[in-house]
Formats: sequence, structure tokens, C-alpha cells
Amino acid sequence: MILITGATGAVGRLVVQQLVAEGARVRAVSRSPRDAALPYGVEVVQGDPARPGTMADHFKGVEALFLHPRTFGDSADRLLALAAERGVRKVVALSAMNVDDPFELQPSRLRGDRNKEAEEAAVAGGLAWTSLRASAFAGNTLQAWGAQIRAGDVVRYVHAGFRESVLDERDLAEVTARALLTDELAGRRLELTGPESLSHEEMVAVIAAALGRPLRFEEVPPRAVAAHLIGNGLPEPFVRALMARYDHYAGRVQHPPTGEVGKVLGRPARTYGDWVADHVDAFRNG
Ligand SMILES: NC(=O)c1ccc[n+]([C@@H]2O[C@H](COP(=O)([O-])OP(=O)(O)OC[C@H]3O[C@@H](n4cnc5c(N)ncnc54)[C@H](OP(=O)(O)O)[C@@H]3O)[C@@H](O)[C@H]2O)c1
Repeated sequence: MILITGATGAVGRLVVQQLVAEGARVRAVSRSPRDAALPYGVEVVQGDPARPGTMADHFKGVEALFLHPRTFGDSADRLLALAAERGVRKVVALSAMNVDDPFELQPSRLRGDRNKEAEEAAVAGGLAWTSLRASAFAGNTLQAWGAQIRAGDVVRYVHAGFRESVLDERDLAEVTARALLTDELAGRRLELTGPESLSHEEMVAVIAAALGRPLRFEEVPPRAVAAHLIGNGLPEPFVRALMARYDHYAGRVQHPPTGEVGKVLGRPARTYGDWVADHVDAFRNG
């Protein structure tokens, strides 16, 4: 049995699907199991990893745990101690490529994500472990630009030339399943990126090609984008850290491609174009 925390989220849902496709038995944790809508056959249980007491019964018969860094608050060590006590053998932690950056350059911390703690707890927890240091997800681009592209032909955002090697979340899910179901990746911190580094402007051009209509990237100053994002309800400290990250990495590639996905899966990582082709309807109006 594999226990998945964060199972109803963007990554967890794909991990669950992948495990089911590979024939694994899956127990999925959610704070609201009635809304989970996970595949048939998945055992959905109510729990909150930030309150390890709510998780105690869920480790029964579990071989491997997927530790999602948005779920456990300050409780990673206690959660893993409990898992070890209940006979869990292995933990696979989701983490991030930027975990070693100063915290002020890790905007996600200000949303409560604990990528560093996930990796550290996994390494120190006494179980077999793997840490998956993911680069920026391809899906971030839908969150950042989707509304503008559905509404018009201009994408206003910071740093046209900002380059990163975005990772298709499905590749992340496949690597996660490999780490959970085999011992091939034990004891490793895997740096997972997409296969190519693309600038913001180049990514928008990929979306335009898939939509079959022109899109223009218009670079606007960070201050203007920050005001827009804050006006749309994002917390100011988070937006400040996001802009600091862009400024810090502008002019160089943030996390160049590592080739690790290809090495693990024995096939090339999905490109950003692959991801866009499969999500193009989300950029269409109506
Ligand atoms: N976006 C990127 O580019 C990127 C890159 C590298 C790493 N990461 C890391 O990946 C993680 C995000 O993964 P994701 O996109 O799968 O997240 P997500 O879609 O927000 O899913 C997180 C799931 O965790 C559960 N959860 C439990 N406690 C929570 C809490 N206090 N706040 C929010 N959710 C909570 C929720 O399920 P229930 O409501 O059902 O309990 C939710 O479905 C973050 O830690 C992020 O730092 C992201």
C-alpha cells in the first residue's frame, strides 16, 4: 500500500493516477475526502498531515509514503517518526530545485510550502528516502498567463528574457511513482527539470503556435506586475519574493536542464510544447 499526502492537488492527483495505472494499491489523504474525486479503487481517508495524530491509523499496511511539502506545516519530523513507528519503510519527499536558495528567494515559503523541511525530514527520518527537487512546473504558466490569453492577444508580464526549464507535472508524477514502487532511486536527491530552457517570451510563442493565433509578449516593470498581482489578491510578501526571484535570476538560466527525468524514465522528458498541446483548451476562451 502506498500512502499519498496532498493527493487531491495538482501533483498528488497525477501521482495517484500514475500509481493506479501501474497497478499499485493507493491510500489517499485529504482533509475533505468527500470532495476528493479520485479514481475508482483508491482508498480515500480523512487526515491532516499537519496534525500527525489524525494520520496514525492511515499508516497501517503502508510500505511507502509520499510526503507533500504543502501539507504538514511544522510537523514533518513527527509525521515521519510516526510513519517509522508504524512500519513504513520508505518516504519520497516532494521538494524543489531552489531549496538551497536564501529563503527570501523562495516565494512558495510564504504560502506555507516547506520544501526544505520535506527533504530534510526524509533524509533524517530513518526510512529509505528519495527527494524530488522539482524545477518550476509547466502549469505555472497557465496560472500566470491563462486569463490574459483567454481575454486577448497580449501577455503583460515581467522579464521577456527570463529563462527556466519548466517541468511537466506528468513527468514528475512518473518519477515519483518509480521512487515509490522500486528501490532504484533510494538515497538520492534528484534534480528534475524539463528538457529545454525557454524564456517567458519563447513560452508564449509556443502557446501561440498551439492556439494558431498570434500572441505578443509585452514586458512590463516588476512594480506594475506586482501591483496587479496584489490587486488580484495575492499576498504582498509572496509577490515581493516572486519579483526578487525574477530579478535575481534575470539574465541567466534558472536551473538549466539536468536530463535527470530522461535518465530515470529511459525516454526524453516532455517538452513545454508537449505540455501546451495537452492543455491548449485551458488557454481558449469558452
Ligand atoms: N509550482 C511549482 O513550480 C513548484 C516547483 C517545485 C516544487 N513545488 C512545490 O510543490 C508543492 C505544490 O504542489 P501542488 O501544486 O500539488 O499543490 P496543491 O495543488 O495546492 O495541492 C496540495 C494539496 O495538499 C492538501 N493540503 C493539506 N494541507 C494543506 C494546506 N495547509 N494548504 C494547501 N493544501 C493543503 C490539499 O488537499 P486536501 O484539501 O484534499 O487536504 C491540496 O490538494 C509546493 O510545496 C511547492 O512549493 C512547486
